[in-house]
Amino acid sequence: MTRHFLRDDDITPAEQLEILDLADRIKADRWGTRPLDGPQTVAVIFDKSSTRTRVSFAVGIADLGGQPLIISTETSQLGGKESIADTARVLERMVAAIVWRTYAQSGLEEMAAGTKVPVVNALSDEFHPCQLLADLQTIREHRGTLAGLTVAFLGDGASNMSHSYLLACATAGMNIRVGAPIEFEPSAEVVSKATEIAETTGGSVAVLTDPVAAVGGADVVVTDTWVSMGQEDEKAARVAALGGYKVSPELMAHAADDALFLHCLPAYRGYEVDAAVIDGPQSVIWDEAENRLHAQKALLAWLLAKSAS
Ligand code: CP
Ligand code: NVA
Repeated sequence: MTRHFLRDDDITPAEQLEILDLADRIKADRWGTRPLDGPQTVAVIFDKSSTRTRVSFAVGIADLGGQPLIISTETSQLGGKESIADTARVLERMVAAIVWRTYAQSGLEEMAAGTKVPVVNALSDEFHPCQLLADLQTIREHRGTLAGLTVAFLGDGASNMSHSYLLACATAGMNIRVGAPIEFEPSAEVVSKATEIAETTGGSVAVLTDPVAAVGGADVVVTDTWVSMGQEDEKAARVAALGGYKVSPELMAHAADDALFLHCLPAYRGYEVDAAVIDGPQSVIWDEAENRLHAQKALLAWLLAKSAS
């Protein structure tokens, strides 16, 4: 059966561990895994801008023995010119997998429903699950384990990163706290699903409005831009509402002394995080960015193997 990766809870806790273990093995032996030998082609489609996702998928697909085909919506028939269902049926005749950065999650679901090849969410308005595989790989590298650690996500609780943190950390048996103003709280469906998963993994889920309470004693502190792609018109209102959730050295001081700082990037220093934190000794953002490569190679290799069996 074809496996897709559209949201973080598309994989079980055991499957998440399999992918993270494979990511570590691939990182240690970069050229040793070649499921795309041929070369087979993977379509990587962008409706939104990208640096890390574009480069890590292009390099990763080549590392796996394959050939990346980077498609921009503007210069293809997607984006309202041709239906997603028809696109899905054309692509499956030629490519081994489809990776897509888009707006609505429903578009990814339609693509996955219409094709026999694995579909990967390379960021939607609702989730950024590939980023979370890289983030979990990074945290595990620095801490040796995931289960039992406490993670605080600060800022836009309704964002793709917040939602993916809730689901992926619950899956990993971590304690995830989101610190966000009430008008930026996470989706009720995601909180409820994360809570349900946490009950089976020994993790926990909390949504708090007090940033100090959210960060208190945390092992990992995470934030993301306050203005996600597509929200540029809301910048002034968002900056005003989220100002109290900036990860400053003072806020970071409430976390554990050895707490890690993560940010998916791109970062806006002086807004969601101060330079002293993101460029300081607790920050692991460059390992996090590199791990996009290893984690996504593992994900593609894993999806292709599972879909073939
Ligand atoms: N973190 C991330 O997805 O970066 P890009 O937008 O550059 O791909
Ligand atoms: N939340 C951000 C993540 C960018 C990688 C956005 O969607 O723009």
